[in-house]
Amino acid sequence: MITCDSSVQLPFQAGAHGLACDGVSIQSIVATVGTPVYIYSARAIRDAYRSIDDAFAGYPHAIHYALKANSTLAIVRQLKALGSRVDANSSGEIEVALRAGFAPREIVFTGVGKTGAELDYAIAHDVGAINAESAGELDRIAARARAAGRVVRVALRVNPDIDAQSHPNISTGLRSNKFGVALQDARGIYRARRDEKSLQFVGVHVHIGSQITTAEPLRRAAAVLTTLALELRDDGVPLEHVDLGGGLGIAYEGRPMITAAEYAAAVLPELRRANLPVVLEPGRAIVAHSGALVARVADVKQYPDGRRFAVLDAGMSELMRPALYGSFHRIVPVSPRQTPETPWDVVGPICESSDVFARERPLPELCVDDLVAILDTGAYGAVMASNYNRRLLAPEVLVDEGRWSVIRRRQTIDDVLALES
Ligand code: LLP
Repeated sequence: MITCDSSVQLPFQAGAHGLACDGVSIQSIVATVGTPVYIYSARAIRDAYRSIDDAFAGYPHAIHYALKANSTLAIVRQLKALGSRVDANSSGEIEVALRAGFAPREIVFTGVGKTGAELDYAIAHDVGAINAESAGELDRIAARARAAGRVVRVALRVNPDIDAQSHPNISTGLRSNKFGVALQDARGIYRARRDEKSLQFVGVHVHIGSQITTAEPLRRAAAVLTTLALELRDDGVPLEHVDLGGGLGIAYEGRPMITAAEYAAAVLPELRRANLPVVLEPGRAIVAHSGALVARVADVKQYPDGRRFAVLDAGMSELMRPALYGSFHRIVPVSPRQTPETPWDVVGPICESSDVFARERPLPELCVDDLVAILDTGAYGAVMASNYNRRLLAPEVLVDEGRWSVIRRRQTIDDVLALES
């Protein structure tokens, strides 16, 4: 079976003394840090980054890691050390990138509904490109840039009406989605503004969705974007790059999955028609496999019909993906168990019936105080956590070369209440 894991050795493996992250015992980390806790492998992040970088090695490219997938400073610094650049989705993410040592020019700023304050912030820092989401936003950028006496590097995000064949909540390239401008309008929008001195058009941008598992939608997006770039060249708008966004999926369930090499093989022939450097914005494919959410069983119970629940000390407040998208994550006990597998509903402690990680999942006997790891949660896990039910953000731990360190401490109730009068 080919999976995008083929070049990434999965970090969480069962050892003689229970589950380990690149050889470091999960039990030993939990003994110090407690649960719930996010644990990441720096090695897996490096491997995943390099597999994408290698796949595009024969073509001018820049990887702008999508910070929204996981923007904990220590993780972002890992990406910086690998030579990555970043895609930021808010002024908060720009600030994280700057504090992690990225130069402003290494940042592309994307996102629907950027506020005036966010635009001013990005303009003042002279970021690599602001990916504008509408004609109106381009005009607001131009006006603010004129007022600041600046020339701003911009790209326009195009909505190509391509079905990414992913979950509807994370598909962004359809006409019914709020993202970008209609493809047929894009050329006119550039043309009408090509003499605007405060705007320097550096690229065209597309992002059709996330957790994309087949090459064809990505190839089609590259095709339409390349064609647009060629048309703009004819119009006297020479660009510096074509930005394909992110979206490369990972094998959550172990099913066959597009590899980084297959992704490159699909889009490169299209890109070569214009021969412009490509910007890539992968998030999930770089960090998802690196992380696990480790939780403790707080309660177990059985109904008369036989349905059994394991209630964890982590819930949708720590990991929202299953509740929000019905998404699948492998769940494994941290200590080896010899008991036969039977179906378990693995749930969280939140007062919501959607607070469910898995239904009827075959697992060995689970008892109160057992530890379980919810795998492939390095992307869109900790970043989407909340304080719902006044729960406290879980700490994050990074494992690297046999050592581990806390890269974000556990939140305290005083941290939370410090904002309140
Ligand atoms: N670029 C743009 C403009 C984006 O909107 C996104 C993700 C990315 C890049 C990175 O996409 P990736 O390579 O990670 O697929 N919370 C959802 C995912 C939302 C993705 C939003 N945009 C989840 O947990 O699956």
